[in-house]
Amino acid sequence: MKRPKRYLITSALPYANGPLHLGHIAGAYLPADIYVRYLKLKGEDVAFICGSDEHGVPITLRARKEGVLPQDIVDKYHEMIKKAFAELGIAFDIYHRTSDPLHHETASAFFKEMNEKGEFIEKEEEQFFDEQEQQFLADRYIIGTCPKCGFENAYGDQCEKCGTSLSPKELINPKSTISGNPPVLKTTKHWYLDLEKYQHEWLEKWIDSHKADWKANVYGQCKSWLNSGLQPRAVTRDLDWGVPVPVPNSEGKVLYVWFDAPIGYISATKAWAKENGKNWKDYWQSDDSRLIHFIGKDNIVFHCLIFPAMLKAHGDYILPDNVPANEFLNLEGDKLSTSRNWAVWIHEYLKDFPGKQDVLRYAICTTLPEQKDNDFTWKDFQTRNNSELVAIFGNFVNRTIVLTHKYFEGKVPACGVLTQFDKDTLAEISVIKGNLEKSIENFRFREAIKTAMDLARLGNKYLADTEPWKVIKTDEERVKTILNVSLQITANLSIIMEPFIPFTAEKLRRFLNIEKLNWNLAGNDDLLKAGHQIAEAELLFDKIEDEEMEKQIQKLMDSKAANEIANIKVDPAKENITYDEFSKMDIRVGTILEAERVPKTDKLLKLKIDTGIDQRTVVSGIAIDHKPEDIIGKQVSILVNLEPRTIKGIESKGMILMAEDASGKLNFVIPAEKTTNGSGIK
Ligand code: MF3
Ligand code: ZN
Repeated sequence: MKRPKRYLITSALPYANGPLHLGHIAGAYLPADIYVRYLKLKGEDVAFICGSDEHGVPITLRARKEGVLPQDIVDKYHEMIKKAFAELGIAFDIYHRTSDPLHHETASAFFKEMNEKGEFIEKEEEQFFDEQEQQFLADRYIIGTCPKCGFENAYGDQCEKCGTSLSPKELINPKSTISGNPPVLKTTKHWYLDLEKYQHEWLEKWIDSHKADWKANVYGQCKSWLNSGLQPRAVTRDLDWGVPVPVPNSEGKVLYVWFDAPIGYISATKAWAKENGKNWKDYWQSDDSRLIHFIGKDNIVFHCLIFPAMLKAHGDYILPDNVPANEFLNLEGDKLSTSRNWAVWIHEYLKDFPGKQDVLRYAICTTLPEQKDNDFTWKDFQTRNNSELVAIFGNFVNRTIVLTHKYFEGKVPACGVLTQFDKDTLAEISVIKGNLEKSIENFRFREAIKTAMDLARLGNKYLADTEPWKVIKTDEERVKTILNVSLQITANLSIIMEPFIPFTAEKLRRFLNIEKLNWNLAGNDDLLKAGHQIAEAELLFDKIEDEEMEKQIQKLMDSKAANEIANIKVDPAKENITYDEFSKMDIRVGTILEAERVPKTDKLLKLKIDTGIDQRTVVSGIAIDHKPEDIIGKQVSILVNLEPRTIKGIESKGMILMAEDASGKLNFVIPAEKTTNGSGIK
């Protein structure tokens, strides 16, 4: 394609119903930020757009559960997410939100225009309705028994037990989660996007035209959707949270969240343009603009098929030129999960590792799930910091600056006669820069950061080979040249590291006492003039100790444990009994007098109990959790009128009552304070 005049870069709008974690950053945000910083450093005209996705059923469900309004939920998380992005240096030109009136207007107008053009199919169909609450039920508001596996709490769109995707009508005994009542079927009208028609008219051809330039995972997913044949898709819902459907007689209907959210990119651009004296149409409606959507793989169908179909059906808009979707990032071998709290939360990271934004950016960038899912581990994070950022990059910069102060009072020494080795080293900078551009422009950010690090490696090796600290004793002129070359490499690092680790690049510029330099200057060997005064050295990176990593791993283990407890399923209640039935049981407090194992069994103990009535023998299956020597003298509850039974040849009279948890662990049921043997339990 010919060189675009301007770029419109978007990152998926995160749902404002939870904080950001590592997986978000690795999917749609860090790659976009690197790309944008690179373009801006080259002086390109770029709008970098994002915002909160504030509609949709999960937000209403959450609000209902917490007893607050949906607006309260999104207000809280919008602010939290916005702050985390800013602190991590994900530098959007605007972070907007879809509950903003400008967005409602924009999405409304978009729908109206499509409607007037006759782009929608209007269809009536039967849908579940809660008569008590007088509202239609979104799929997520209906639970019932899964027809596949029999799980009793399957949702109307999916069974979380067996993973089958369902439609609400397939559920056995469906129930409304709002009132608890069985819903009834009622007719409702919805607007459908005719994807089937678009597929044949142009969509399939358009996707095919990107076979070579889109990532294989993205192209492949699109093809597989197309191969199974696109169907008309409803773009409206019966719900009271969202952008109202802007046609008469459609009370209680809103635009489907996946219809309004991508239009959020447009409304955000409008808001940004207004604040910055730009024309939003230049970015969205001009052929010399290049639109790129950064997303995670679960968003591919919406950004590659549905949203383009909307844009084209509406008319006037450009289509995305590329959609470099990433796969998923796992954490310590397990899928990231908000509900299971298996995550590194960005706001917590920023608190636990103040000033170390770039370490996380670097570690994520080296681990990006570009071709397939990938795994983030704290061990790897530590190694990236200690063995690469500290030992290579930091070490090189520190030695260069310290030596410049030590030998030349912090003034850039003049470059003398270059040896072949010097020349080869300097020539390598341009090679690295060229490779880097190729990697970034092809959205290969892992390869890019490795290449950028190669420049630090080059510098480190240059110092190790030239040994200025030895040469200074015999040849000060030579040392001037060596340090000049090293300082030029450092200045180049301040440029090429900027897209990846901007906080560090800024620090470097401060050390070198220079302004931000244009990307195109990278590769030059005279970025710093002889005599230029540089600042005192500070450490660029600190080592991260094992204890800090252990703390983080412990945090994860704790949340795993908390989850296991929270997930324990308790047996449902048994059938009711009468008081008479209950009062037939004679339960007393007794004391264990003697205890010994029953030979040739693992579970059984033979106990002698003082029941207050008598002293008797009871065989009890508690030996796994309780050792005989630990329980002698303990008070227990005992059912004394249970029919005697002979177990392993021993007559057992009565039963010790135990509380059994979901894991099968047995706990004595004892009076809160010591009491007389024989006390009745009623
Ligand atoms: N909120 C969606 C998600 O997190 C992404 C929306 S992207 C947009 O999966 F294009 F719809 F805005
Ligand atoms: Zn199931």
